[in-house]
Amino acid sequence: MARIAVLGSGSGSNFQSLYETFGDKIVLVISDQPGAGILEKARRAGIPAVVEKGGFDLCARILDHLEGIDLVCLAGFMRLVKEPLLSAFPHRILNIHPSLLPKYPGLGAWEQAVLDEASESGCTVHYVDAGMDTGEVILQAEVPVLPGDTPESLHERIQVEEHRIYPLAVKSCLARITDEV
Ligand code: GRF
Repeated sequence: MARIAVLGSGSGSNFQSLYETFGDKIVLVISDQPGAGILEKARRAGIPAVVEKGGFDLCARILDHLEGIDLVCLAGFMRLVKEPLLSAFPHRILNIHPSLLPKYPGLGAWEQAVLDEASESGCTVHYVDAGMDTGEVILQAEVPVLPGDTPESLHERIQVEEHRIYPLAVKSCLARITDEV
């Protein structure tokens, strides 16, 4: 059975949607934020939840936990993934980003869309490379930006789509990984 680790810094709603789809394939959660909701959600689900605070060797310390893991899913992980983690998981680290990449990479993507008075935004699941939200796109979903939207109301609408497409993208990656072995 494939083994998935989820890394996150925030509330963990994407973790929750992955857990609801993949259940005990999710075997580990790691957060850099000791108070993050994702840790609480993981513990409630009976999944080992580890804290690794930042620092120059954060990615090496994270890698130490990932023995036997097939796929790493970033779910609101607010750090750049660097070596040695990147090379240890080629095409096996995924991220969910709240915009239609390559538009609005980095922080505050939903605020940017509202400030720009864009007519649509959305979310993207992509492979992680050394850049900031630059890796190959796996799946995207569009979301309208409505008159009167605030960054918060837009983000809420985007998250509904995040929770729908992240599990779909993970499913297709797991199918590829299973074919490889
Ligand atoms: C999501 O909007 C995701 O796109 C972004 O961070 C947010 C994490 O939310 N990278 P959650 O912790 O999964 O609720």
